[in-house]
Amino acid sequence: MKGIILAGGKGSRLYPATRAVSKHLLMIYDKPLIYYPISTLLLAGITEILIISAKGQMQSYKALLGDGAQWGVTFSYLEQETAAGIAEAFLIGEDFLAGDACALALGDNIFYGAGLTGMLQDLADTRTGGSVLAFQVHDPQRFGIVELDAGGAPLSLEEKPANPRANWAVTGLYFYGPDVTEVARSVTPSARGELEITSVNQAYLDRDELNVVRLPRGVTWLDAGTFDSMLEASQFVQTVEKRQGLKVACLEEIAWRRGLISDDQMRALAASFNNEYRDYLLSLLRQPG
Ligand code: G1P
Repeated sequence: MKGIILAGGKGSRLYPATRAVSKHLLMIYDKPLIYYPISTLLLAGITEILIISAKGQMQSYKALLGDGAQWGVTFSYLEQETAAGIAEAFLIGEDFLAGDACALALGDNIFYGAGLTGMLQDLADTRTGGSVLAFQVHDPQRFGIVELDAGGAPLSLEEKPANPRANWAVTGLYFYGPDVTEVARSVTPSARGELEITSVNQAYLDRDELNVVRLPRGVTWLDAGTFDSMLEASQFVQTVEKRQGLKVACLEEIAWRRGLISDDQMRALAASFNNEYRDYLLSLLRQPG
């Protein structure tokens, strides 16, 4: 399975902070926002990743992430010319996917919690139909919403409904079979002129091929799309990291723990920092096992 991270958009809701810098490069506590969705894909076992950025911003992403070899993964880069919708990612990434199954992660979505890794790996192994993660929220009007029956099967989907039928938000992490490009091509733009990811999910639901996994209470989902949610996400990560002494979404650590890089490579990465990030990586190497 391959992965796509969508880090497009002008980020106009965060102007002036994002006038010159892409939103997904802004920091969430101690690392750039895009590290978090990258960590999600790595935890799912996905190492071939396409980063889609807004027009004119590709160089910044390349400067930050390179070709991925430092973490034992491969990054490719493409631009989204206009804000034509999330589902356009599958059309932009068609050659990259080359008929493989695909996980799409939105660049501003953060997942953290117990049991998440196993859940992600199971979804990445499915490779057929569509799978989404649903999270209970108190403000469903802000999201794509899925209505579920008593057994947890999806009944209906709505994108940012004024009068939501449920409070289960569809999070920004989606898993699809190899037919996703074809499905994305078949959907028509919404009233706001975008190829909506909800339309893609609706197409899978219509064929009875949409699997909805409800995130348990022990898993946190944050989307960092507003000034407040960025600050809240930073505070959340700070709280967890300070309390446990363990980093959230530390790509070096994940790559090392998954055997994508050796101890020596980890040591070299540590040496590229001169702060507590270095001390953290070195402390991992000293831990038994
Ligand atoms: C997008 C999707 C929405 C989803 C949300 C998750 O909305 O359209 O269905 O619930 O991401 O972050 P956006 O944040 O782009 O408005």
